Amino acid sequence: MKRLIPTLKGDKVELELLMLVRTILAGCKEIAFRVSQGALGDVLGSTLDENIQGEQQKKLDVIANQLLKSMLLSDENVRSIASEEEDSVVPGAADGRFIVAFDPLDGSSNIDINGQIGTIFTVFAARPELAADDPEQFKQTGRKQLAAGYVLYGPSTMLMLNTGGATRCFTLDRTHGGFLLTNEAVSIPKQTAEFSINMANSRFWFEPTTKYIAELLQGEVGPRNKRFNMRWNAAMVGDIHRVLSRGGIFLYPKDNRDADKPAKLRLLYEAMPMAMLIEGAGGSAYAESSAILDIEPDSLHQRVPVIMGSADEVAHAVSFY
Ligand code: F6P
Repeated sequence: MKRLIPTLKGDKVELELLMLVRTILAGCKEIAFRVSQGALGDVLGSTLDENIQGEQQKKLDVIANQLLKSMLLSDENVRSIASEEEDSVVPGAADGRFIVAFDPLDGSSNIDINGQIGTIFTVFAARPELAADDPEQFKQTGRKQLAAGYVLYGPSTMLMLNTGGATRCFTLDRTHGGFLLTNEAVSIPKQTAEFSINMANSRFWFEPTTKYIAELLQGEVGPRNKRFNMRWNAAMVGDIHRVLSRGGIFLYPKDNRDADKPAKLRLLYEAMPMAMLIEGAGGSAYAESSAILDIEPDSLHQRVPVIMGSADEVAHAVSFY
């Protein structure tokens, strides 16, 4: 086991970017501690507020957002931040070189049941011609991400990180406080017999999703000639971590539950960073018909359908759309 963080040795990551990732990780370590305190730390339950997405904010959503926001705004290299919990861009240093988008606490419905939750983040170069409070800063495709990752607060706290090469996995050493490299090249098998979708939405799905999932459910007596198993964590970080660990396909397709919100997951701080991690591990990531990493966000909180995971299975699923 080699110690890469805090040095990120072997990576051609420039020092300022490395320092920025370390700032994010310092915030995540603090969140991990608060999460581990559970009811003893007064972090469970809801606030009386709603975020920009119209979702009720949990106490931990607010705490995690405040922690990351204040740490990032004290970094002189950060020009702008965007967060799931902030309506608009938060300006940082006027001449900062990087912009950061994050979901401070993904999988909020798992907070109160001691289930898997996490923080998702992505870093881009700031566009020097644009002001720090200009949301156009974030109109960049996922291919331009300089670093993307998540920290999963589970039985162990794990970091999945991609800075342009292979996706790597680190485990938090709680005794010494560092993230230690535990997998230097995460690799997703191309084929899988495990899928992940919220089946409770099935009556709202559009035909391509209905047909694809029906094939999987028929198992060995259907056209796929094999039995598929299903897992649903209700936290994207947990489901994607399983896919990165042993393969699988994760879907959150469009549906007709709410005409104003045909898709659920957010492009900038959920789908894009996860797509970089998945592609860096040999998998694929689509918003039904286009590669997620090729989409330029038209707004900070834009939602996209998501199909990602084992490459052959994703290719098959996408052929339905
Ligand atoms: O972004 C929100 C999120 O909690 C994801 O982490 C997760 O994949 C999804 O929503 C869960 O959705 P549902 O409530 O439909 O299970």
